[in-house]
Order: sequence, then C-alpha cells, then structure tokens
Amino acid sequence: LIHLLSTEGLSREILTQILDTAANFVSIGDREVKKVPLLRGKSVFNLFFENSTRTRTTFEIAAKRLSADVFNLDIARSSTAKGESLLDTIANLSAMAADIFVVRHSESGAPYLIAQHVAPHVHVVNAGDGRHAHPTQGLLDMYTIRHYKKDFTNLSVAIVGDVLHSRVARSDIHALTTLGCPDLRVVGPRTLVPSEFADMGVRVCHTLEEGIKDADVVITLRLQNERMSGALLPSSHEYFKSFGVTPERLQWAKPDAIVMHPGPINRGVEIDSNVVDGGQSVVLPQVTFGIAVRMAVMGIVAGNMA
Ligand code: CP
Repeated sequence: LIHLLSTEGLSREILTQILDTAANFVSIGDREVKKVPLLRGKSVFNLFFENSTRTRTTFEIAAKRLSADVFNLDIARSSTAKGESLLDTIANLSAMAADIFVVRHSESGAPYLIAQHVAPHVHVVNAGDGRHAHPTQGLLDMYTIRHYKKDFTNLSVAIVGDVLHSRVARSDIHALTTLGCPDLRVVGPRTLVPSEFADMGVRVCHTLEEGIKDADVVITLRLQNERMSGALLPSSHEYFKSFGVTPERLQWAKPDAIVMHPGPINRGVEIDSNVVDGGQSVVLPQVTFGIAVRMAVMGIVAGNMA
C-alpha cells in the first residue's frame, strides 16, 4: 500500500492487516510505552482544507506516537488564500521534504490528484474528500465493530441518516462488504437514501423500524447541511420525528446492539442525547481507536511494515 485513498478496492487481507496492526498499537501512549520509532526522521504534513476536530487531532497524535515530525498547515492563513493552486502548495511543501500528506478537501478526488503528482517516495492519506471517501474513518469503524462484535460474517449493520452526502457511509459500505457482512442496510428518507444505493449491494430502508430491526450495529450519521441545497434540506425537527434514534426506538435493534457515530454529533437531530450518552453508545471509543488505526495506516504506507 503506497497511498490510502479509499476503502474501495482494498482486499480483505489488507483490511485485516490494518486492523491487526492497529490492535498492536492500541495501548501505545497509555502508560509506560509512549512512542515507537517507526517514522523517526519522517515528516507528516496535515493539510485540512475543511474543518475537523477528531481526524486532524488523532492524525497528529498518531504521527507523534510513531516519532514523526508533524506540521499542521493553517490553511486559512496559508497562501491558498492568495490564490496558490493545490498542486503548487503540494510542490512547495514537497520541497520541504514531506514524506506523508494527510489531506482533507471539500472536492471529491483532491487526494487522488495529489497522489498523481507527488514523488514516488511520498505517501498520501485521504482524511475525507467531498462526499466520496473517508477511509480512515471507515477503518476505525471496522476496528470498533470487530472489537465489540468479534466477527463480521454474522452481523446486521444499519447505517442511518444522510447517506447520500456521506463519505463515511461509502467507506463503511465498501469495507463491510469486503469483510463479509451479510446484512447491510442504509436507512433514511428517500431524498437522503435514494434507491440507487441498492446497486452497492445494500438494503435500502425508508422507515427506521425496518432499518434497525434486530441490527447488531447502528451507525448514525449527521445531516450534512453544508452539502445540501433547496428541496433536499430537511427540517431538523421533521427528521428527528421520523428517523432520530431515541432510547425507545433503539429497542427495535438487538438488546446488545452498539450505537456508533463518526461525529460531529447534532444531538436531538439524528440521535437523542440519552442514546449518545447511554450504555450502548461506543462513540468515544471510536475516537480513541482512531489513533491506533491511523498509526497503523501511516506505519504500513511509510514505515516498511507491509
Ligand atoms: N469523523 C470526523 O471526520 O470528524 P472530524 O470532522 O471532526 O474530523
């Protein structure tokens, strides 16, 4: 693996290698073991052209735990604001001896463009591009599911919410399908979960009850209003009335179902606070596992672990 741009096309073997490698990294940073020297002398550049709390911070922590030098480009104060093109920015940062670019961008495909223009020894990791892909979120979701449910091949997984605009949903669907999940549903109103998603081999459900019935895993998603316009934009109140995951509705899923959310959460819109903070929620463990998963990804692409 040279770059990580999508979970689409990754084999079951590579996905499993990343999850197994992450499992070995999970305790690093906890107590006596603070760092491993895998990326000592390497430079990781975080380029976040879109806002981020979890992804940017956990990539920084992960890179530091691998002993890399980390640089966070402040895009708002960078020369991007003066009209410098994306590829010129990359060329200039490459001249500062970058080894890994971690890229988030509102345009689907931006990390691919960068990967086509960097030198062969430079690695690109997609930290979310438009509505296309968010592969490390997909991988940390797989890590979380495997941690709590052990095996993918007997699971019912429901992805609930604004699937249409969600790069997380697409990355999860590709990874879950490859890992052998036999019952994958996407759930939401027709405007946000069009029937074309059936082409990805998932069941499309337009009621919450049908969608999460007897599910082992319920992945909730935010309404991505920044990617919507006009008629698509549902009212938060109306959405919550039909699709908000409340403690009462969660009883449609299996009693031991876990509830996930990639964040950021809009409490009272896609999910009730009592579910976010309840005993079935694994939202914060997802964030913590993200550190180990991002260590694994950078270790495999740039640390000669493969
Ligand atoms: N899940 C996720 O990508 O969160 P951030 O936007 O905070 O990075």
